[in-house]
Amino acid sequence: MTHTFTLIEGDGIGPEVSAAVVRILAAAGVEIEWDRQDAGAVALEQTGETIPPALLESIRRHKVALKGPLATPVGTGHTSANVALRKTLDLYANLRPSRNMPGVPSRYHHVDLIIVRENTEDLYSGLEHEVVPGVVESLKIVTERASTRIARFAFEYARREGRRRVTAVHKANIMKLGDGLFLECVRRVAAGYPDIPFDERIVDALCLDLVVKPETLDVLVLPNLYGDIVSDLCAGLVGGLGVVGSANLGEDAAVFEAVHGSAPDLAGRNLANPTALLLAAIMMLRHVGEGARADLIARALDRVMQSGQVRTRDLGGDASTTEFTDAVCREVGKAT
Ligand code: NAI
Repeated sequence: MTHTFTLIEGDGIGPEVSAAVVRILAAAGVEIEWDRQDAGAVALEQTGETIPPALLESIRRHKVALKGPLATPVGTGHTSANVALRKTLDLYANLRPSRNMPGVPSRYHHVDLIIVRENTEDLYSGLEHEVVPGVVESLKIVTERASTRIARFAFEYARREGRRRVTAVHKANIMKLGDGLFLECVRRVAAGYPDIPFDERIVDALCLDLVVKPETLDVLVLPNLYGDIVSDLCAGLVGGLGVVGSANLGEDAAVFEAVHGSAPDLAGRNLANPTALLLAAIMMLRHVGEGARADLIARALDRVMQSGQVRTRDLGGDASTTEFTDAVCREVGKAT
């Protein structure tokens, strides 16, 4: 079966890591027609919008997109195309697995964490204004609807994947109403899943546990901001941003991406590690029922990582993006 997916190559290292992943998927025999679309700064220049209607139409039609990183200016300039895409398509769940990969150097071992981050509200609502000069108000929005559906997502995921536990992460001791509502919604949903152990952690205490004994944690469900911050911490536990993929999932569409940004320091130098986007693509294949090919690529990637002979610089090696991609394609070829 031939799939059609939207491809957003993205900025910086985006085109290099996207090309690598497209090659590896083709080597594994997955038949994909890529509908290439622009977003972010490139789209803004051409169409005046960071997420143009043609891009949204493409994702709505194909229901699945693979996305490279998009650069977002800090402080000034256009608003984040990433945030806008998640909100416009109501991609309410951000799923980020952080697991030790064989052979990838890391301070920790036996880490197998799943971050389930609410993706549409909280302090990412973009509601900020200057009350008087020198005083700015940024609104944190928490709704029962969004909190309940992300909690349900987390418990459904835990049940489907046979996970050990779901932990709700919050700061309801301080934000008694906002985080209080989030926590209350997760508790209510948890009551409907008596087969799945449930507990709660204040976000600062959770961060301590994550760096002291990460192997004791399993599925974490968090509001948007804590999820954003904690998920990079979790990537750091297993080898860094170059080795973690993510999925943004809604009822009608799904966008798969690496967790890292556009790495402008590496752009155009053939040095980027395409593993994170490849892991996102593996999640994408599972999502569309291509589990066998997803497994095949995951095993090939593991073999390359485990042998340690071909490693990109972020993992202590000296291989280029192309050499690493060639190595994964060779392993994939041996298994097909
Ligand atoms: P970054 O993730 O681009 O880079 C942080 C560090 O990690 C840099 O040293 C970079 O060289 C390294 N790195 C990142 N990805 C790598 C890879 N695949 N292989 C090897 N090394 C890698 O984060 P930064 O510098 O904070 O952000 C740069 C731009 O990316 C910003 O405009 C930011 O807004 C955007 N960004 C976009 C995201 C997205 O599209 N989902 C996510 C995070 C940041």
